[in-house]
Amino acid sequence: MAATVTVVDHPLVQHKLTLMRDRDRSTKGFRELLNEIGMLLAYEVTRDLPLEPVIIETPIEATEGRRIAGKKLVLAPILRAGVGFLDGMLSLMPAARVSHVGIYRDPESLQAVEYYFKSPSDLADRTVLVLDPMLATANSAVAAIDRLKSRGARDLRFVCLLAAPEGLARLQQAHPEVPVWTAAIDSHLNDHGYIVPGLGDAGDRMYGTR
Ligand code: URA
Repeated sequence: MAATVTVVDHPLVQHKLTLMRDRDRSTKGFRELLNEIGMLLAYEVTRDLPLEPVIIETPIEATEGRRIAGKKLVLAPILRAGVGFLDGMLSLMPAARVSHVGIYRDPESLQAVEYYFKSPSDLADRTVLVLDPMLATANSAVAAIDRLKSRGARDLRFVCLLAAPEGLARLQQAHPEVPVWTAAIDSHLNDHGYIVPGLGDAGDRMYGTR
């Protein structure tokens, strides 16, 4: 059975996503919104992290607090658009390590081509959050997860902004144990592999390229 797909329908996420979809949104505005949604998605994707008790001294007396226990986190943005989530997530999880996964979509074949990979070596002991705003064909997501698994990762979660039904199906078929968090599931992919209605090319919109 495939792992869960969680659509984060929090009003702040939906509001910001709608602003991002607007073709007239500036590069600066788009980047800021992606960063903010990254924070909000980080909040949701870490909701079930285990806690452990810890005794601390307040200025008044000793008390039992709770702190995050268990495996440490790795953020694994798929370059380049995945980097748009990174700062927002790191501001909430400053101790997380980062794996950079450089994969681009060949514009003709839409296949994933890896050009860079740099990662902490102890992935087997960590929870890995794979980040890419757009889950379109899922070729990049599948290739990135394949690569992270080949380096030992066993506990992975995928976080995106928009997912196409085709991409979700492919990711779940290739990696059925990987749960997904997304702000929306859109209608379909067009003939060029773009999500419809989508928001265009997330990397170009983040960096003002074309
Ligand atoms: N990548 C993007 O940036 N946008 C899409 O719609 C699909 C893939």
